[in-house]
Amino acid sequence: MSATSLAESMTAAAKAVERVLDEVLPRPSGPEARLLDAMRYATLGAGKRLRPYLVLAASRVTGAGEGGALRVGAAIELIHSYSLVHDDLPAMDDDDMRRGRPSCHKAFDEATAILAGDALLTLAFQVVAEAATHPDPEVRCELARALAIAAGAPGMVGGQMIDLEAEHSAVDAAVIARLERMKTGALIAFSCEAAAILAGPSSPDRGILRGFGFDLGLAFQIVDDLLDVEGDETKVGKKVGKDAAAGKATFVAVLGADGARREAESLVDRAISRLSGYGGGADELRAIARFVVDRKK
Ligand code: IPE
Ligand code: IPE
Ligand code: MG
Ligand code: MG
Ligand code: MG
Repeated sequence: MSATSLAESMTAAAKAVERVLDEVLPRPSGPEARLLDAMRYATLGAGKRLRPYLVLAASRVTGAGEGGALRVGAAIELIHSYSLVHDDLPAMDDDDMRRGRPSCHKAFDEATAILAGDALLTLAFQVVAEAATHPDPEVRCELARALAIAAGAPGMVGGQMIDLEAEHSAVDAAVIARLERMKTGALIAFSCEAAAILAGPSSPDRGILRGFGFDLGLAFQIVDDLLDVEGDETKVGKKVGKDAAAGKATFVAVLGADGARREAESLVDRAISRLSGYGGGADELRAIARFVVDRKK
């Protein structure tokens, strides 16, 4: 798949998921309108939408329907957006810029940002549970179970805890790999795995796609860490140079930028090699994997 068609396909996925997000996010009204405004502010209009795009591209491999894939992609994006709102809070990374604009707690206030994050997280499970996601309630239940594991203490939230505790402490590459797989890899792995769950309980693709997403997810976070050192603030849409200042435990800190880039490249090679059984049908996933290491934002 050429770089141009990847870019086009990614833009089309982003537009399609934006429509679903706009539909599922409540319209601001009533005395709680401020909360609903903050939820929409944190979610709509920006972001690469990589995770929903992975659900869609992996669904083209498993044969899962696009409507369900888009709803699951939207649910993942709701959780991802909540994780960014909370990640930026003063008690966590204390970042004032996100997706090229003021962070949610800057545009609103800290209490509103905390509540908006809470409500985005719970909305995600509502979206998964609704019948429009999949006609089979067992499939919806399995999606919710796997998403909870990816987003919760065994995954994203647990990784965020380790990330904060590892600030200013001497941790080795194995601990960093674990924390980054948890905080970022788990949700990206679920994005790929979900396409197999949506295809039905007997889909043979689940383990393969999960493994692909797990390696890709770690590579994605290593590149995020590299962009904090080498990236252009206007392109990445958030402040750069903050990880070293905060004493964050990253591959860049222990291996240097060149070593971290080599690690990300070898993870992407490994992720792609996991797709060897698929033939040309998985070319879009392979192209996404290459994009993850080459990206500038
Ligand atoms: C940023 O994720 C936070 C990480 C988990 C590395 P993205 O780089 O996907 O952020 P958006 O959604 O495009 O803003
Ligand atoms: C955050 O990692 C991962 C999340 C689960 C939100 P970072 O703290 O490195 O993400 P950025 O750089 O602020 O986007
Ligand atoms: Mg963080
Ligand atoms: Mg951060
Ligand atoms: Mg970062």
